[in-house]
Amino acid sequence: MTHRFSAFGEQFDNSLGTLQLMQDLGDAAENPDTLMLGGGNPARIEAVEERFGDYLKALSQRAEATTARLAAYADPAGDRTFRRSVAKLLNREYGLGVSEHHVCLSNGSQNGFFALMNLFGGRRADGSLQRILLPMTPEYLGYADLWVDEPAFTAHRPSIELLDGRFFKYRVDFDAVQIGDDIGALCVSRPTNPTGNVITDDELNRLDAMAQAANTPLIVDNAYGAPFPSITTTNISPKWNDNTVLCMSLSKLGLPGVRTGIIVAHPAIVERVAAMNAVMNLAPGNFGPALMTEAFDSGDVLSLARDHIQPHYQNASKQAVSALLSATERTPVRLHKPEGAIFLWLWAPDLPGTADQLYRRLKQDGVVVVPGHHFFPGLDTDWAHCHECLRISFAAGAERVAQAAPRIAHAIEELYA
Ligand SMILES: Cc1ncc(COP(=O)(O)O)c(C=O)c1O
Repeated sequence: MTHRFSAFGEQFDNSLGTLQLMQDLGDAAENPDTLMLGGGNPARIEAVEERFGDYLKALSQRAEATTARLAAYADPAGDRTFRRSVAKLLNREYGLGVSEHHVCLSNGSQNGFFALMNLFGGRRADGSLQRILLPMTPEYLGYADLWVDEPAFTAHRPSIELLDGRFFKYRVDFDAVQIGDDIGALCVSRPTNPTGNVITDDELNRLDAMAQAANTPLIVDNAYGAPFPSITTTNISPKWNDNTVLCMSLSKLGLPGVRTGIIVAHPAIVERVAAMNAVMNLAPGNFGPALMTEAFDSGDVLSLARDHIQPHYQNASKQAVSALLSATERTPVRLHKPEGAIFLWLWAPDLPGTADQLYRRLKQDGVVVVPGHHFFPGLDTDWAHCHECLRISFAAGAERVAQAAPRIAHAIEELYA
């Protein structure tokens, strides 16, 4: 039977990168032999999960209060008690000077990004297209397919700095980045998914100054950043001002199942996203907030990040890097300097063939990675570099990356041969 879908509905076919990624994740869960280095699932860290168990117990010991909280829809901007706790934590730690009116929750930050992208990108009342500027790609593939209208990105290639030890680092090409009248917002993930790049303070400050001068919000996707989950190799502080939209999530703390995203923004933006929440969800779920409020009030969430999550990923990253570099030493492969997030970004310069071929070949061989071309939303993928990269997650453990490394190296060598 053929259905007549709307133009909006037609967008949701099998070609979507986000769908491929999530399907691979679902398939791998059924097949434990697959070396799943593809998805964005966070690591299972025993000490962290024990603490989540304690929070659950505490909830059940206050069953009446918990039930009362879960028995009611939250405010469209999300559970007020938790929003106050988030604001207090950000004020205590960083002096951001925000209140619950600056905080809006969403059912996962992916859902928050659907609201934000369509709030600032898309058709204007006069019919012209307002765009989101991605100052530097590669960028998070989850942004690519969020549009109600047509895709509305303007994106730029990075400058590539070659570093010793077979590393490289992307930098914002400020000669290319300009904020014209058609730009509704800028967006960067920091640390960046997929590359593990942390754009420098200087880069962030320059983008912030440009965005303020153009009266255009700067969205900073802090899914892996400070104060939680703090998956970075150096300590960074979140920056916020009235022109910044700071997005956080409980997912990479180890709770992707509770679907809680947190947006910190000017109250006028919070009101719009809350209105979108009301239409799309009535209200964001309040289980994640109920589970985590005490951890925010006590500061436990910070010690979890600092004492367990950060060291766990730093260690895994180091081991995964050394496994990949040594397996690929006969090839021209380089890795992006690992500064944060849960991925390594492998670049095979002048690769004959494409990263998609590598992805398919490796999948047959029981290794799932993500081919690089999905991570250039808004950029013309005629740029060969888009087809020369792979994203490799080390969240499943460095041993799994070490097991996969010879197969990855072999597949790459086959193409170069
Ligand atoms: C950079 C980035 N932003 C946003 C998200 C969405 O996370 P969630 O919807 O689980 O909060 C992810 C998930 O992998 C991500 O990597």
